[in-house]
Amino acid sequence: MENIYLLKDEPNIDSSLKSQIISDYDEVRYEDTGLESYILQKYNLDISGKYGDLVIKNPFGKASGQLSSNISQIKTDAMDGLGFVVIKTVISQDEKAESSMEEWKVKAPKMVVEEIISKRGEKGYTVTWKGRGWDKSFEDYLELLSQSFDVYKETGMPVIPSVQYHLPVSDEEFRESEYEFTTKSLEKVWKESNVDLPFIIEQDFSATLSGLKNSQEEILRWLREIPGLIDKYIDTDNKIIGVKLFNPLHGDDFQVDMVKTLNKEASEIVDTITCFNRLFDLDKVFEGKKGIAYGGYDLSDRNLRVLSKFIEGYKGDFIPISATGNINSGKMMVEYALRGATSGQIHTYFQISSKNYRLEGGSRVKKALHELMFNPTNGLVVTMISLRDILGINEDKVFKFLDISKLHKQIDLMELK
Ligand SMILES: Cc1cc2nc3c(=O)[nH]c(=O)nc-3n(C[C@H](O)[C@H](O)[C@H](O)COP(=O)(O)O)c2cc1C
Repeated sequence: MENIYLLKDEPNIDSSLKSQIISDYDEVRYEDTGLESYILQKYNLDISGKYGDLVIKNPFGKASGQLSSNISQIKTDAMDGLGFVVIKTVISQDEKAESSMEEWKVKAPKMVVEEIISKRGEKGYTVTWKGRGWDKSFEDYLELLSQSFDVYKETGMPVIPSVQYHLPVSDEEFRESEYEFTTKSLEKVWKESNVDLPFIIEQDFSATLSGLKNSQEEILRWLREIPGLIDKYIDTDNKIIGVKLFNPLHGDDFQVDMVKTLNKEASEIVDTITCFNRLFDLDKVFEGKKGIAYGGYDLSDRNLRVLSKFIEGYKGDFIPISATGNINSGKMMVEYALRGATSGQIHTYFQISSKNYRLEGGSRVKKALHELMFNPTNGLVVTMISLRDILGINEDKVFKFLDISKLHKQIDLMELK
């Protein structure tokens, strides 16, 4: 099976820079300066990212899920330096608290982090779990959102609510009352919080949708109509609408069509696309439930392959991309950036055993972020320096992470191989 990764396993950089990175890896020195300023001053690298048009201090965010379900998690993420957090997905409801997707509110505390070998034989990790959306009340979600905006006010780390709205099958009508009530309720909290952050919604297509085997027509209808239905009930122009796409069981070409459809038919409304939620194994059983979402290298292989096909075939500018799927190193983040991504959303890498991180103290997020930045083989710093060398960019000039997402317009990416 073809290896689609563009960057070499071992980056080739100047030995004195390499030893500086190793010493930064061994000891935290950025506490006073701040991580991003330290990297800018020392290595001439600007690691800012973007979610849509929103600038974030570094590209690493927490993906929506069990790790962004309570305020203490979100506070720790902000204190320990994450670029942004997407809050757990809430299931939409109407003003009578009725929700057509009630069965998506699954209480499932048990998660198991497992090794998983991909089809190409690469060892990674996956989190096995049988839950779906937010399982507490909608009011609780609004409270969490309000508290998260307070965290933003204190720390400047953007927080993003995530919603799964009603998804009709065949020619069923959309339950617009759920779109209206949910969107307006979230916007009300945003307004009352008075934050200098746009009103952001990331609309999630859950990975577990794949188990329902919706037809291609049904899925394309959702993509054409849902962004407009969300937008219809937003009352401010200061907004960002994100759509997080899933990986349905229809193959790569259809996946490319999904991204194209949003770009061709909803680009006026959709500001960012999160690509792509987890894969789905119809046969895997966990705690009595058949059909389980999974990740690891099969997920990043698929996501990168699809994004490569999309950018090769799509002429012109496209809706900004936020990546998700097996982002387990700065190098993997750069692989996604080479396919147009301006930020990355991580879940599994924040759950693996602490023995995988060099830092011994602090939260998982702090240790993971240090690794993502300074690992001397696959961290963001070493990967960006190596890419800067390959591109022949002078090291006296600031090299920007965000420029990587535009490279595909300027060079043949295969030359990097
Ligand atoms: C336990 C678990 C719960 C998740 N819940 C959600 C969710 O509520 N909403 C969502 O958009 N994605 C959810 N995801 C998907 C993650 O946000 C992420 O996009 C995906 O796991 C791929 O990233 P990763 O390979 O770093 O885990 C969940 C993932 C896991 C493992």
